[in-house]
Parts: sequence; structure tokens; C-alpha cells
Amino acid sequence: MTALTTLAPAKINLTLHVLGRRAGDGYHALESLVAFAGVGDTLVLEPAERLTLDVSGPTAGTAGPTDDNLVLRAARHLAAGVPSLRVGAFSLDKRLPVAAGIGGGSSDAAAALRLLAELNDLPLDHPAIVAASRSAGADVPVCLDPRARMMRGAGEEIGTALGLAPLPALLINPGVAVATPPVFKALGLAVGETLPGAKHPVIARGLDAEGVLAAITPARNDLEAPALTVAPMIGDALAALRDQPGCRLARMSGSGATVFAIFSDEAAATRAADKVRSARPSWWVEPTTLS
Ligand code: C5P
Repeated sequence: MTALTTLAPAKINLTLHVLGRRAGDGYHALESLVAFAGVGDTLVLEPAERLTLDVSGPTAGTAGPTDDNLVLRAARHLAAGVPSLRVGAFSLDKRLPVAAGIGGGSSDAAAALRLLAELNDLPLDHPAIVAASRSAGADVPVCLDPRARMMRGAGEEIGTALGLAPLPALLINPGVAVATPPVFKALGLAVGETLPGAKHPVIARGLDAEGVLAAITPARNDLEAPALTVAPMIGDALAALRDQPGCRLARMSGSGATVFAIFSDEAAATRAADKVRSARPSWWVEPTTLS
């Protein structure tokens, strides 16, 4: 059998509301409209006797120890749930920044489960795939079938795909790694406490880009303020986006530090990317489409 390949796209939280803090596990209950970018890591699976992983690519050096990589962790979770699972040699071309709020590791883990599902003729909603995705991390289930949808709970409740109109966008990471736990900690929510006034976006099927913008603009990312205290440079990245002609909305994704902007059209997003790149050569700057 030939090698199987999939894109592990960047996950963008168009909105992210923290509803409260759960008593049992201390995780935060969220409601988030998640979309996916056209850019990402690429994962290849070559069927083989043993499960292995090779990591290369521009951000491989910051991806941590290979044996701990979420690709292998997700594959091991699945192997524990499926007797005589066919496995193989994974090759990961790592392009997304790490600890960046765009689910790079989560999307890689989900990509590994997609390829193993294909190799073993398992549907993506197979209980062992779903269980392995949940064990691999809060953001992995939503990345399994990377199409825009609502995510609730600590990530385990996944809505149906929304068929979101493609949104011309620009992603910027100001080169600072942000771990998720300190950002939730900086939010300072006690167990049982809730945040006031979340404006839940209602996304009707078939809504055009203007309609999506109108729905998400009054919403917010509740992790933006605490992330700014952890990594003030996020404010510079947001300001750089808001300054650009054609920028309709600029917001942080996940727990940061990546920020995204929705533009009026692709040409405006590309022009903005060129300007930000020349002003900030060390930043990660990617014009793309979200859907
Ligand atoms: O599941 P994952 O390893 O991605 O989560 C990282 C950390 O982020 C958790 O240990 C927890 O501190 C925090 N978190 C949270 N509520 C969520 C998701 C993550 O408190 N819904």
C-alpha cells in the first residue's frame, strides 16, 4: 500500500467564550466557533510493522521531544483501544508555530488518527477514534474532521459542520510561545464562577462572509485579556492587524499568541501580509482562507 497524506490545518477560534469552571476536573467549560485555515503541517503515514515518527520542517526544532509528540501519543491511545491496529512510519512536516493557540499539536494528533482510520478502514466516529482524540487533548476532537463547527464543554462536544463561507484572513504569530495553563490561570475563574455577558454567535447554514462577520464581531475571545498579561506582545500583533486597510476584525485565537484578521478580500490580506513581513521580519505571517 502506498503512503497516506493529510494536511493538519491551523485551528482558529473565531470566537471563544469561557462559560465557567468545572468542579470535577477544573477544566473550563467553553463555547467556541472553530474554523480551519488553508495552511498547516503535513503528515504522511507509510504502512509498517512498527509505529515511528520523523519530524522535519521549519518549526521542527521547537516541537519538543519526538517520543512525546502528540502524533505518537494519539496513535498509542488508538492502539490501546483497537486490537491488532495496523500502524506505520509517520513523517511530520512541521510548519505551524508551536504553543501558538492554533492547535498545531492537536491538529497533528487528529491528522494521525485520520490516517490510522483510513489505513484500518475505521470511520472517524468509531468509538475508539473518538476516545483516542479525547485522551490526546481538549482540542483534538474538533480537529478530527477539520471543518468549521461549534465546540462546547472542554472540547468534547462537537457540533455538525457549518459549511462556513470562506473568509479571507491573515494569521500572525509574534514569535512568543504561550503555554495554555498560565493563560487560564490568569483568567482567575474560581470553580462554579461564570463570566457575564457572552454573546453567542448564531451561524445559520449557508451564511455568506458578511453574515459570518456580523455574527462573530459582537462575540469575543475571553482568553485575550489574560493572554495579554502573560505575553504583552500579542497587543503589538493585534495593533499591526488593525492598522491594515481592509481589516474587518482582528482577534486572538485560542490562548494565543497567534492573532488573526478577517479581510474584505484576499488581495487586501496579501498586501497586509507583505507590509507586516517587512516591518516585522521575525514574525510568522500567513495570508490564508478560513472555513
Ligand atoms: O487538554 P489540553 O492538554 O490541551 O489542556 C491544557 C491545559 O489547558 C489544561 O491542563 C488546563 O489547565 C487548561 N484547559 C482548561 N480548560 C479547557 C482546556 C484547557 O482549563 N477547556
